[in-house]
Amino acid sequence: MVRISFRFWSWVILLCGFSICMELNCTIRDIQESLPCQLYFFSKASDCEEETLSIRMPVLFENITSLDWPGPPGGLNVQTLEKKYTEEGTNNKLYPGIKLSLKPPQDASAKYLKGFIVVIANRNNKGCLVFDISNVTWTVDLLDVQFEHELFPVRGNMQYDVTASSLPLPPMRFKRNDLRRSIISSRWGWDVNQQFPADWTTSLAFRVFLEDDMSWTISVSFTRPPAVFNFSTFIISLIPTDFLNIQSIRTVEFQYNFTEVKRGWYKIGVNPHDEHFSFPGLCLCYRRDRVCDTCIRTETQYFKVG
Ligand SMILES: *[C@@H]1O[C@H](CO)[C@@H](O)[C@H](O)[C@H]1NC(C)=O
Ligand SMILES: *[C@@H]1O[C@H](CO)[C@@H](O)[C@H](O)[C@H]1NC(C)=O
Ligand SMILES: *[C@@H]1O[C@H](CO)[C@@H](O)[C@H](O)[C@H]1NC(C)=O
Ligand SMILES: *[C@@H]1O[C@H](CO)[C@@H](O)[C@H](O)[C@H]1NC(C)=O
Ligand SMILES: *[C@@H]1O[C@H](CO)[C@@H](O)[C@H](O)[C@H]1NC(C)=O
Repeated sequence: MVRISFRFWSWVILLCGFSICMELNCTIRDIQESLPCQLYFFSKASDCEEETLSIRMPVLFENITSLDWPGPPGGLNVQTLEKKYTEEGTNNKLYPGIKLSLKPPQDASAKYLKGFIVVIANRNNKGCLVFDISNVTWTVDLLDVQFEHELFPVRGNMQYDVTASSLPLPPMRFKRNDLRRSIISSRWGWDVNQQFPADWTTSLAFRVFLEDDMSWTISVSFTRPPAVFNFSTFIISLIPTDFLNIQSIRTVEFQYNFTEVKRGWYKIGVNPHDEHFSFPGLCLCYRRDRVCDTCIRTETQYFKVG
């Protein structure tokens, strides 16, 4: 099991008034000139309700009555990151963050695009980012632009579910086709020089998607361990709620796709493979004085497929 660090989530310690928490500059990649873009960050679930946002940002959340709305974002990339609090900092500890990047819809519907909303939820809290790009005139050349944002720090060892939609949203009766990704953030305050291999947890990202042949695939990736731990093989498990038919694979890669997954509830686990488990002097996972211990399995929460 993964231990949870009970630090305050950075979003919570920002002093949020009742209105906008933060107004940020957009980071835009793959472009020469600058684009008019404004980014808003809201740290409270109630601020992220569509009704609340539509009062604050009527242009982005207008009620569409025609057929003119943008398709889903053309890409959503969610990655975990680990870095120091400050570059010059005296301690060597690494803290978890999340890096997001988004692309406009890759078709003619991009001409209706006015923004994006990205909802980021963990077990306790929900926040959102709203990109206002309502003044951009979309041309074919702009479709490769990527909008990026880094959330740092976030709580350690915690699952975050990220959902991205283009704005304005389609009328209620139409399907939304939001993009979804989930990740587990890495450990809070991790200092590789002071940790034992048996303490290692990974940060894990996964997404569930329907293949063209209507079967479900779960794509899993995780971050590599520090080289000094000598882990070379990993066990990735897909665990159904009844614990029967657990699929486990052993791999030297940091990525794996479970294909033809049946509908149901699952969680994913990743742990190093310790060939010499509990053999003193040979085991890879050990603590103080080289006392062997089980390797930690990083696990997601249960999620639904289908
Ligand atoms: C955003 O960019 C403007 C102009 O470059 C700059 O003056 C401002 O300080 C930036 N704001 C933030 C929050 O970085
Ligand atoms: C869009 O243009 C209007 C009018 O010039 C301006 O008030 C607004 O701040 C602009 N919005 C963004 C996100 O650039
Ligand atoms: C959109 O419609 C809903 C329900 O009819 C209404 O409550 C809301 O104020 C409308 N929003 C805007 C921006 O007009
Ligand atoms: C990794 O392997 C090398 C060479 O076998 C060994 O010297 C080193 O102590 C190992 N590191 C750990 C953390 O066990
Ligand atoms: C898993 O599926 C994704 C999406 O189709 C693909 O990009 C990736 O290369 C696949 N990975 C492996 C290890 O097959």
